[in-house]
Amino acid sequence: MIGMGALFHSTADVLVYEVGPRDGLQNESVFIKTEDKCELVETLSASGLSKVEVTSFVNPRWIPALADASRLLEMLQRQPGTRYGALVPNMKGMERALEFRPDEVAIFMSASETHNKKNINKSHEETFQAFEKVVAKAREEELPVRAYLSTVWGCPYEGDVSLAKTLSLIDKLNQLGCYEISLGDTIGVGDPAHTRRIISEVKAVNGLSNIAMHMHDTRGTALANCLVGLELGVATFDSSIGGLGGCPYAPGASGNLATEDLVYMLERMGVKTGIDLKALVRAGLLAQRLLNRKLPGRALAALAHTYGLVEE
Ligand code: HMG
Ligand code: MG
Repeated sequence: MIGMGALFHSTADVLVYEVGPRDGLQNESVFIKTEDKCELVETLSASGLSKVEVTSFVNPRWIPALADASRLLEMLQRQPGTRYGALVPNMKGMERALEFRPDEVAIFMSASETHNKKNINKSHEETFQAFEKVVAKAREEELPVRAYLSTVWGCPYEGDVSLAKTLSLIDKLNQLGCYEISLGDTIGVGDPAHTRRIISEVKAVNGLSNIAMHMHDTRGTALANCLVGLELGVATFDSSIGGLGGCPYAPGASGNLATEDLVYMLERMGVKTGIDLKALVRAGLLAQRLLNRKLPGRALAALAHTYGLVEE
């Protein structure tokens, strides 16, 4: 399974991994109809995004907004150029996911023990015991496994998180056989200097070919942090259409970096993403309509104006 990420980098310099339908919608208090979620995902695929995380097979009592995970995967009109992922926290989630089979699954844990416990109700040790079974099943089913490591830049309960802890968890996730590890600034506390220290150290110890960055934009620093990562050699960035998102078990965490802000910056810099920005803006406007409010992304309104698309 290691190395699967490389397959998807061929037509772009950078892979933008869209997480809005999952990370964004998981935090919404209104339930978006499955048909509307499908339309959003299909509009995102149409923009050229090669990976879209669509839902989570978690306990629907914990995340009611994604209780329709199976129905969504069943209904979704999948496009050949896009791979559709879903979160699975345990074997129960894996079994549910396998019914309508996403193209890849993602396990998730936190670098800080307290956030890990609040988010998935397990210690680090219990988490790895559960993940071993999930990854073995994924291997049997030939499903690539991505891993998220949250709270790398800081924990809402413990504050600073040690880089040594992050490095040791990256090593364990590699040993499990995850093809990529997405490092998360779950509560958006990172700054570019801190990011340089973290990513430089990860580069020295692990290399960056299987590392993604997942930056929340709670304090407006996500894009700056990604730029530092890009300069150091990170080639996969998670983002969320319109800047939707937040982790329900990280108080005060708000949206992810907006996909259109990221793609706008990269394309202007001459870094190819393979994404059609106008089509992406259509998806952002659709997300706004579905949620009936302005989303926090910065570029959406200006780009809608540039492309002559109407903001409702
Ligand atoms: P638990 O309560 O410890 O599970 O939850 P359990 O094994 O003790 O089972 C208790 C009940 O849950 C049982 O049902 C199980 O069947 C059910 P009952 O017998 O009481 O009726 N159950 C499930 N139901 C459906 N699907 C499942 C499942 N597993 C157990 N997969 C669990 C453990 C992990 C399931 C729970 O803690 C959970 O659902 N957590 C979800 C947390 C979450 O989704 N957080 C947001 C995503 S992470 C994130 O946003 C961060 C990220 O974006 C990166 C970043 O920003 O840094 C990825
Ligand atoms: Mg997140």
